[in-house]
Amino acid sequence: MKFVSTAAAIAVALATVSVHSATTVTIETNAPGAVIHRNIYGQFMEHLGRGIYEGIWVGEDSDIPNTKGYRKDVVKALKELQVPLLRWPGGCFADEYHWQDGIGPRDKRKKTVNTTWGGVIDDNRFGTHEFMEFAEMLGAEVYINGNLGTGTPQEMAAWLEYMTSDSDSTLANLRRANGRKEPWKVDYFAVGNESWGCGGTMRPEYYADLYKHYATFLKTPADNQPVMIASGGHTEITDWTRTLLEQVPDVWSVRMQAISHHYYTLPTGDWETHGKALNFPASEWFSTMWQTLRMETFIKENIAIMDELDPDNKVGFYVDEWGTWFDAEEGDNPGFLYQQNSLRDALVAALNLNLFHKYARRIQMTNIAQMVNVLQAMILTDKEKMVLTPTYHVFKMYIPFQDATSLPVELKDAPQLTQGDKSIPAISASAAIAKDGNTYLALANTDPDKVQEIVLDAGKLRSASGELLTADAMDAHNTFANPNALVPTPYKVKAKDGRLTIKLPAKSVMVVKLK
Ligand code: AHR
Repeated sequence: MKFVSTAAAIAVALATVSVHSATTVTIETNAPGAVIHRNIYGQFMEHLGRGIYEGIWVGEDSDIPNTKGYRKDVVKALKELQVPLLRWPGGCFADEYHWQDGIGPRDKRKKTVNTTWGGVIDDNRFGTHEFMEFAEMLGAEVYINGNLGTGTPQEMAAWLEYMTSDSDSTLANLRRANGRKEPWKVDYFAVGNESWGCGGTMRPEYYADLYKHYATFLKTPADNQPVMIASGGHTEITDWTRTLLEQVPDVWSVRMQAISHHYYTLPTGDWETHGKALNFPASEWFSTMWQTLRMETFIKENIAIMDELDPDNKVGFYVDEWGTWFDAEEGDNPGFLYQQNSLRDALVAALNLNLFHKYARRIQMTNIAQMVNVLQAMILTDKEKMVLTPTYHVFKMYIPFQDATSLPVELKDAPQLTQGDKSIPAISASAAIAKDGNTYLALANTDPDKVQEIVLDAGKLRSASGELLTADAMDAHNTFANPNALVPTPYKVKAKDGRLTIKLPAKSVMVVKLK
């Protein structure tokens, strides 16, 4: 079966050029693509600002309602989000984290300085046991990022033994003495983070040697072998992917099963002045969309190298950090990377998720940065208050895509938005057959002013129903005082005369089930 739709859009806002065009959207239901791994919806939680302390962990004695130290409100919201995977403890923090500081009685744990993020004291109340218990509460898989930068192979190997060994070893018994009898399953393990930068300012060749060196000693029981991840490049960089695939042999002893890649969306593209989270100029709506869509080029160029050097698709390409990065909120510790989250972030989320679906054959995991109170967060907290962000709502709307089978979507003659010498498509779309057997369609309209009319040639289709996220203001957002200012609303349309017409509002995200 083929669903064919036509979108007509007349002009563009923000644009210096008006464009008249029509789009034909074809969903190839007869040519299913790769399965969209649920871990594309993975989350990242680092010891950074209020991401863990206050955002997740408040301790058992806190006045903030908690279960064994974990915030009740946050846990409930994350369960509803069906978070499939958690990455911890960093980020840059990972390469300075010594796991033994975070085990044993909490009041006796070492106090360390978080030199990367705000220079604050981390008293290590949240360590391996707390992280693993949190993941179990959410039913999420775990992705542990090892310390290559300031740790040794012995320390890394010992951490894995502590977590996974069911033997009578001293480390396994120490875990038991600290309250955990059974070994934990470690689903994913990375050797270092951003080794080109905060993880050690290395050359890819040097890192490839270190990866082999460390990985050789990372031994876990046969039934508890994490997927091993090498630290890769970022943004437009591809030489890490090439060097790693050329220099790390395809042998079990050093198995490299994925290469990580990072890309952050800055409205200005400038690390000195990123751009504001709210009250931004209209031009930065467009520039943010343009910057975020660069992701596709980075994915394509890295995948081209992988297809050349790993034609059997054995090695995954994991975008294990992505999302918006704005100027930190005024008055806050700039090292805490706290920022508001608006309708613009919702569009960024949808555009990236649609891309990850498209390249799901290689991209089997991504982690948005970061889950609570940091960068493009799902949740913001202020002491006992909590608010869900527009990005949270997009992730929730997209739940049917977890483990769904992607369907190729063709957008023909899509209307373009243009600003100066740059253009972007006004419509982004993704479709899949979900585990419930239904076909879902996700749509995003990047045009801040114009409705896009999507006409689905119904065939056997009778209706489209789901949810819509939109608002009048580009920076519409939720606050602690008004937490439901921007929430999804139900959307339903029925076929008429054999045609199904979806009116996709300006600056909106929609997910519908096609019946
Ligand atoms: O997510 C914040 C930081 O961004 C991470 O610690 C680091 O890996 C990246 O540079």
